[in-house]
Order: sequence, then C-alpha cells, then structure tokens
Amino acid sequence: MGNTLVVRGGRPLYGTVEVPTAKNSVLPLLAASLLCEGEVAFHRVPRLSDVAACVEILHAVGCGVQWAGQVLRVCPQPVQNHCLPDGPVGSMRASVLFCAPVLARAGKVQTAMPGGCKLGPRPIDIHLDGLTQMGAAVQWGEHLTLQAPRGLQGVDYTLRCPSVGATETLLMAAVAARGETVLRGAACEPEIVDLANFLNACGAQVQGAGTPVVRVQGGRPLHGGHYTPIPDRIVASTLACAVAAAGGQAVLRRCDPAAFAPLLQVLRQAGCAVETDADQVQISRRGLLQGVGQVFAGVYPALATDAAPLLAAALLGAQSQSSIQDTVFENRFACAAGFSAMGAQVAVQQHTLFIRPGGTLHGALVTAPDLRGGAALAVAALAVSQPVGIENADLIARGYEDLPRLLRRLGASVHDQENGTKKAHQTVVTKFMGI
Ligand code: EPZ
Repeated sequence: MGNTLVVRGGRPLYGTVEVPTAKNSVLPLLAASLLCEGEVAFHRVPRLSDVAACVEILHAVGCGVQWAGQVLRVCPQPVQNHCLPDGPVGSMRASVLFCAPVLARAGKVQTAMPGGCKLGPRPIDIHLDGLTQMGAAVQWGEHLTLQAPRGLQGVDYTLRCPSVGATETLLMAAVAARGETVLRGAACEPEIVDLANFLNACGAQVQGAGTPVVRVQGGRPLHGGHYTPIPDRIVASTLACAVAAAGGQAVLRRCDPAAFAPLLQVLRQAGCAVETDADQVQISRRGLLQGVGQVFAGVYPALATDAAPLLAAALLGAQSQSSIQDTVFENRFACAAGFSAMGAQVAVQQHTLFIRPGGTLHGALVTAPDLRGGAALAVAALAVSQPVGIENADLIARGYEDLPRLLRRLGASVHDQENGTKKAHQTVVTKFMGI
C-alpha cells in the first residue's frame, strides 16, 4: 500500500530552493562506473529508492559502494557475479543499463526483464539489437542471458528510434568495445551528454553526444575520479509547475534553464512570469492562468515527456482549454483518474490529455499511478484548499529525494504519512472523504 502524501494546498508558494541532481543522469552513471578501473566518487547524489536499487545491483556484481554524506563512492572490482538480482531489476527500468557494462567486464550477463513505471510497452529490442551487432549472443529463457566471451566489437549502428536508454547502453558498450563505433539516430537528452562527459573525464573518447550522431573510439582503459552529475530538469519542472498551480514566486537555484526551456515557454504562455539566468530560474504567478491550446511532448529538445503530467497539473485550473499530446509513451496520463477525482475536467484520448476549464478542484483520496503521475497529483493538490491524500507515494520517492520537504521549503503543507497498517490507511480515507 505504501505511504500516503497529505497535501493541504490553496496557498501560494514563496521561497528559494536548490534543484537536486538528476536521477536520470545518476542511474546510468552508476552503471557506467563499472567500466572504470579506479574508484569513482559521485557528488551531490540524491538518496532515491532507484539509487538504492542501483547500489544493490553494484553490490551484487561485486562492487564496493559507500555513502559519505551526499558522495557515493563506487570501487569497481573484477565482476564476480554476472547475474543481476531480480528484486532491484524488477523495480526499475534503469536496471537494463547494467547489462552492457557487466557484459563488457565479465563476458556475460544474466537478467530478468527490467521493471519501472507502467507507461505503456517498454521493450528493450534496440538495446539487444545494438549489442548483438557488437558481437553479443542473446538467449531468452526464464532470464535473459547475453554473452560475448571474446569481447565487443565497434559497429556503425542506426537506432530505429532515439531511445534514451538504448543510446546509453550502446554508448557504454562502445566505450568498452574494440575499434570505432558510430551511433546514428541517437537520443540527444542532456543526460546522454552527461554520461559522455563522465566517460570522457575517465579517459574515453566520445564525440557528438547531444547530437544524433555519436562517435566513440573504444577499448581505452578508463580510470576513476570525481564527478558531479547535472541538476534534475524534471525536478526543476516540478517546482516550476508547483508555483504555476499554487501561485506565488520562487527562485530555483542550480538548474540549467535551457534544459527545460519548452516547459518554461508554455508556463509563460499560460501567464506566469519567468526570468532566467545562467543557472537559475525565477517564476511567479499572480493572476489566473490561461489555457495554452495544443502542446506536444516528445524527445529532446521538445517538452520532456516526464514533464507532461506535471504541466497538465499546473493547467487544471486555467481559464481556457489545453491539450497535451505525449508522443513517447502510450499511457503517460494515468494520473488523469486522480485529476478527475479532485474535480478537474479532464479526458484522455489515445496519447492526448484534454483539459477543459470550469472544474472546481476539491479534496480527494487519490493514487499515484507512476513516478511523474504521482508528482503531478501533488502539484495539482497544491491548488486545492481541502486536503488531498495521495496513496502509493513510494513511487514518487523513486525520483524525488523528499518531495514533501522540497515543497515545504516553498511554504507548502505537504507531509508523508506512513501507512503500514490497514487501520492507519482507513483513518486517512475517513479523514479525507469526510466519512
Ligand atoms: C528514459 O527512459 C527515462 N528513464 C524516462 O524517465 C523518460 O521518460 C524516457 O527516457 C524518455 O525521455 C531513465 O532515464 C532511467 P526510451 P527509457 O528508451 O530509456 C521505446 C522517469 O520518470 N523503446 O527513450 O526507458 C519505448 O517503448 C522516467 O524518470 C523501444 O521501443 O526511455 C518508448 O516508447 C520514466 N525499444 C520510447 O522508445 C527499446 O529498446 C522511449 O523510451 C527502447 C525504447
């Protein structure tokens, strides 16, 4: 059943917050650290449940991993166990990113299918096809086994679509492979650039990351070192949407405004005032928001698919209509059920969420359907003066170190309530539904 987040909204947010480090950079970086021969210290690492799952995988394959405050030290050893543990693998999609480094280091890897948010079909065919082209043999059974006893070989490979995860898998494989690899049709997300920057800082030769054509001179030994991953553009988007939903004014420090510029542009269009600096954003909303018509979310540099439900949450109370189409995932707007339960006028048709004006938002007990959908329910609740309870809030902790605390820094009333027992759960239901 997990935790329930209790939001008492209806008050504007004010304050300054620092944007934490990007989950979607940290997870591939932890996988990539397996390719290094020396110790790697990652700085400002958030304590997320997905990071804990990566640490479990690293331990399972024989790596030393230690926290010291916000620094996570990884001491790669020769891989002692090529079987990735089912528990953490089944809990997140990013577990698939450990396949290429373990394969490269041990000559084989065995894994269950990765879990993660249920956003629609999430096959791993591009990861596997690319690795096969580089010389791996794939065997399906109860588990998936990849073998490359003679190592991987560089290739010229075109991805059938710009998958973020597959680009990361093939980038790591290419760094370990013999000879040159050219990846065409690669994803261009900032987290790919961060991965390439880390690998280059450790001695790899990767060129063109952030463009659709990435060239890698593979086979160079990688040393360790210190690395600080980039700030989280989706957490920054969450905070910007929170201010848009609740009103008020906030400064988001230590972020890269360019990395979430499309979201800021739509919020401006809706009536927010947004000012950007090199590494901070000031956002404020005084009057009512306007709808924004049709908006599309897609691969970078478009509006991020992960930000689509957050933006929707901000626009629920707008004076005119909006629609957001997500072109990446089939089931991006599972949070619409929670929006409706709060009184919003929303409908989902295929990949598009339609928001009509006129809904009066009220308290409700809702369920987080996935990570960003759960955060979107919290954002929506900030505009509601009655209490909103969000069940299944553990899903939110996969990508936000402590979302309630982050929002409380801006003056919001958001608390995490542990709901271990059925009785405690019932108390929350009774309280919120006025039973
Ligand atoms: C990454 O997932 C992120 N996760 C996701 O963030 C994000 O939503 C997504 O990229 C898109 O930006 C991490 O970085 C850990 P994809 P990933 O491969 O790599 C299809 C969050 O909330 N596809 O770019 O899994 C796939 O089905 C998460 O932080 C294939 O068909 O995304 C999807 O429709 C949610 N075959 C599309 O590509 C493949 O082999 C995009 O997926 C791989 C992908």
